[in-house]
Amino acid sequence: MTTAVWNSYHQPTLTQLMHSLSHISAIPPAPVSSSVLAKPFTLPNGSVIRNRIAKSAMSETLGSLNGNRPTAALEVLYARWAGAGVGLCVTGNVMIDRRALGEHGNVAVEDERDLDTLRRWAAAGTRNGTQLWMQINHPGKQAPKRLNRETVSPSAIPFRPDMARFFATPRALTEAEIEDLIQRYGHTAEIAHKAGFSGVQIHGAHGYLVSQFLSPHHNRRSDRWGGSAENRRRFVLAVLAEIRRRVGTAFPVGIKLNSADFQRGGFTEEESLEAIRALAEAGIDLVEISGGTYEAPAMTGTTVTRDSTRQREAYFLDFSEKLRSTISVPLMLTGGFRSHAGMSAAVASGAVDLVGLARLLAIEPEAPAHLLRGEDPEQKIKPVRTGIPIVDRSAIMEVAWYTRQLHRIGRGGQPALGESGLRAFMANLMANGWNTLRRERASPSGGPDPDQPVDARPRFGE
Ligand SMILES: Cc1cc2nc3c(=O)[nH]c(=O)nc-3n(C[C@H](O)[C@H](O)[C@H](O)COP(=O)(O)O)c2cc1C
Repeated sequence: MTTAVWNSYHQPTLTQLMHSLSHISAIPPAPVSSSVLAKPFTLPNGSVIRNRIAKSAMSETLGSLNGNRPTAALEVLYARWAGAGVGLCVTGNVMIDRRALGEHGNVAVEDERDLDTLRRWAAAGTRNGTQLWMQINHPGKQAPKRLNRETVSPSAIPFRPDMARFFATPRALTEAEIEDLIQRYGHTAEIAHKAGFSGVQIHGAHGYLVSQFLSPHHNRRSDRWGGSAENRRRFVLAVLAEIRRRVGTAFPVGIKLNSADFQRGGFTEEESLEAIRALAEAGIDLVEISGGTYEAPAMTGTTVTRDSTRQREAYFLDFSEKLRSTISVPLMLTGGFRSHAGMSAAVASGAVDLVGLARLLAIEPEAPAHLLRGEDPEQKIKPVRTGIPIVDRSAIMEVAWYTRQLHRIGRGGQPALGESGLRAFMANLMANGWNTLRRERASPSGGPDPDQPVDARPRFGE
């Protein structure tokens, strides 16, 4: 769906994008204040993050539609955030395998064909001393039907009936394929390192492949990759070890992990704590806490009911406190942060080291500059609604609406805050036709089918 939006605009020329970049470079660095958010944070490997504000991953879908290659729009987008003074910027998920895409327009990095573009992206996103980490991902079964020839997962567990319309039952991975995927995570991280990114983050949250391995619901294997919690953790620990073997210890490697899947029979808080303990012992540099999957999208706050959680803003703060009291590892918490008071209270209490922001930075890319001065952001996150119940229930428009803002910034423009959910939905429908609501078919080629309309799948937060 989101790439339909990109297509429906006039794509800027490289010269126009470069003009935007030169304008952005004129933004002065954010002034230092006494806010606790402005204090630097040093990772155990000695790498310094210049302040406590982190931009959490948001899938930009700004890769090329044919070939999933990075584009100059990513430079513009990341230069804007770096210019606003963000301490740590995590990219949207970059795929480790072209045969396994989560969306049209994903960037895939599996070899060095795009090294020059990646170098420019890294240079733009690290200006002003911002650290730019590439989030690396494989969607496993969470990939829409028409986008990949087949989907794979630890076990062949079907989706819930209402989701099965969009997502196929995956094929269980063979042992040899598992070994190959571990190498691929390592190789993508090695290329990120070579291109000048400051670190990588393994996407271990939100129901994608790493999270599928961890989950007793999705992983029913009886070999060494499944069964006991220890066996289910083997994949993520092997991925971390392979990345580390290739990039060394000076290059930060983090992970985004669920506090829980919020799914019956899924990954629980207790198991999450044990997984984090094992990752900490294995030398992970930063753990980002989130939660939920496509089938239970807790990451965007749809399940928050407690007043105390609303007051403290962050959806997973209780978990973070629990974690902090038992395991020593640098922590970033994402989901729900909105005000300077909420963010600084979380850092000052010692429960988290970095606050992760996503949607706010899509509507107000300069919000970090305000926060670092001790001020509130100018914008507020509001629910995005079309008024069409079936669409609003699925949260499709929420993510698509924010992606439209990322595309605008990537074109050198401003977010359109007044754009209604209905208008965004209609724009997508017009660009995409009624295929948005139709069952999709698989591409016979194993990659995206160029004859198919651009991304129209339901997205529930990446
Ligand atoms: C448009 C959009 C794209 C997202 N893409 C990703 C992604 O690629 N990887 C990821 O880990 N989380 C992704 N997320 C989830 C966010 O990182 C974050 O966990 C969530 O939005 C809650 O944080 P917030 O309340 O600050 O928005 C995405 C969210 C949005 C709105």
